[in-house]
Amino acid sequence: VEELYFSWKDQIMDIVGRWGEVGAPGKYHVVGVLGMGGSGVVGDYLALLSNLRGGLPVIVSKSHLLPRTISSDDLVFAISYSGNTLETRLAVEKALRIGARIVVVSSDGLLEKLAAEKGVPFVGVVKGVAPRTALPSMLFAILSVLDASGLGVVSRGEAEGVAGFLGDVMRDAVNAAYDIADFIDSSKGLLILAGHSPWEALLVRGKNEFNENAKIPVKVDVAPEWMHNDIVGYEKPYKFPACVLAVKDPGDRVGSRLVDFMIDIYKGLGYPVKVLELRGASDLEKLMYGSLVLGLASVRLARMRGIDPLATESIHRYKSMVNEIFGV
Ligand code: F6R
Repeated sequence: VEELYFSWKDQIMDIVGRWGEVGAPGKYHVVGVLGMGGSGVVGDYLALLSNLRGGLPVIVSKSHLLPRTISSDDLVFAISYSGNTLETRLAVEKALRIGARIVVVSSDGLLEKLAAEKGVPFVGVVKGVAPRTALPSMLFAILSVLDASGLGVVSRGEAEGVAGFLGDVMRDAVNAAYDIADFIDSSKGLLILAGHSPWEALLVRGKNEFNENAKIPVKVDVAPEWMHNDIVGYEKPYKFPACVLAVKDPGDRVGSRLVDFMIDIYKGLGYPVKVLELRGASDLEKLMYGSLVLGLASVRLARMRGIDPLATESIHRYKSMVNEIFGV
């Protein structure tokens, strides 16, 4: 599994080599992203980048439902690593019905078939890996389509630069990940991932990684919103063992001070705290660095606990019943 993270640079370079081959030029009001789990979170990353860089508004929907804010005037990415996830397929059917412009991003499966049948643009991503480890392939696939559609927030040149950056920081990322895994395993409590805006998507991705690879529950705390509700919940908590991994962008003075404020409160409750500083020259580099460290840390923690990081039995159990639940 570690190898799958080590190959992130290659995943990006593979998309760079096919950059702009698929596009959907047009005038749209919003960009929709429909997907679940390790695929859906790619939509959160796109929304973060688009917000920071002034791209079109991005509506992410992790559901079988289609938000009514998405209309026939909009571009919709249907993203499912396997191409088979029922919720995503149901939402895509609805998007097709209203006549939205759809692009399918997937490695295989029914959505690839549907794209071929309906003549919908399709971008294939790296094959044969766990969805969550295909994050760069899926993210840069979407960024490439947007660029080819005149809606780019990231250029081919920048993508290539990020691939080089990941190669350069890999060794440091592994070291940081090992430290984090040691820290969490020595506390054996609820993992709280604390951080500051605008990195919500990274924290959610980190949560998913520790859920799926290390098989532990995780709580996500994000400042400054945290200061307006969660903080009160820490006034009189039921006693439970916890540990805090605080993620900071050192280039953001306010963000770092907000997290320092949180850390004071966690420490007052006796929770051990470790800080992860994001590295990189741009928001995109920081996002990829953070994703890499959190991913590798979650895999390392699984190993330390004698758990197979790849297996996601309970997701399979759900998927074996999903058709019955939805009545399809
Ligand atoms: C991540 C993972 C899940 C899937 C989710 C949706 O590695 O296994 O979170 O991403 O169940 O499946 P796909 O991505 O195939 O649509």
